[in-house]
Amino acid sequence: MEVLIRETSSGVAQAAADIMCEHLSPGKVLGLATGSTPLETYRELIRRYEAGEISFSGMKAFCLDEYIGLPGDHDQSYRYVIRNEFTSHVDFNDADVHSPNGMSDRPWEAADEYENAIVDAGGIDLQLLGVGRNGHIGFNEPATSLASTTRVEILHQQTVRDNARFFDSEDEVPKYAITQGLGTILRSRQALLIATGAGKAQAVHDLVEGPVSAACPASVLQLHPNAVVIVDESAASQLNEVEYYRHMEAMRPEWKGLDGLPKR
Ligand code: F6R
Repeated sequence: MEVLIRETSSGVAQAAADIMCEHLSPGKVLGLATGSTPLETYRELIRRYEAGEISFSGMKAFCLDEYIGLPGDHDQSYRYVIRNEFTSHVDFNDADVHSPNGMSDRPWEAADEYENAIVDAGGIDLQLLGVGRNGHIGFNEPATSLASTTRVEILHQQTVRDNARFFDSEDEVPKYAITQGLGTILRSRQALLIATGAGKAQAVHDLVEGPVSAACPASVLQLHPNAVVIVDESAASQLNEVEYYRHMEAMRPEWKGLDGLPKR
């Protein structure tokens, strides 16, 4: 795992966009997170697109998760959010932007279909992730099987409380979601987790330096062969090995790209 520390959330967004830009070519598949953390990264990618520096033409995208029971045109459905905040502002073909069908009356089947669709697309090249304060990635809450595939998850009460800020009241927050599983995320060719703010400091410590444990689902990234974690100073504040992570970045060998992979 590589840990990059930036002074501010905009530094995190720049670094995340730099890595994502290494993966932009026709036929490649991006896994996209919603929530508030990636918004600055998406804005930076839109800026680069508008400046003519990058293109998403010929690419596919798969959202990490979707609430159950929100229609796709609800402004808090992730299908809507990812379009509103990102993909409709760049040259993604709308039909190539996928999300789980949260309106299916057989959501467990919709989850299986989504997992198969990811496999059929050739798997995810780069999976962007945020992290919940309780260590969830996607909506994989504590106690999720580390090998789980896309499935229906019951949201943790804390997640419902945290996400109430996007709704008029806590009661309106859906209590179930379809989420890519931890096993699905592990099969992405690169995982890129971003976290900002002191509220994420404990989760960042647990996922980077704690044991691999379903108690902190994001810690499964320690098993990922190519995971990069980018955090701002506040989110890094509980890490023990900050100086080593900075040293690692300063000493990155010439042959390694920003994404930690050999330069192509
Ligand atoms: C969203 C998602 C969640 C969020 C997490 C953090 O698609 O999968 O895991 O990344 O809840 O949310 P924010 O960024 O709003 O703090």
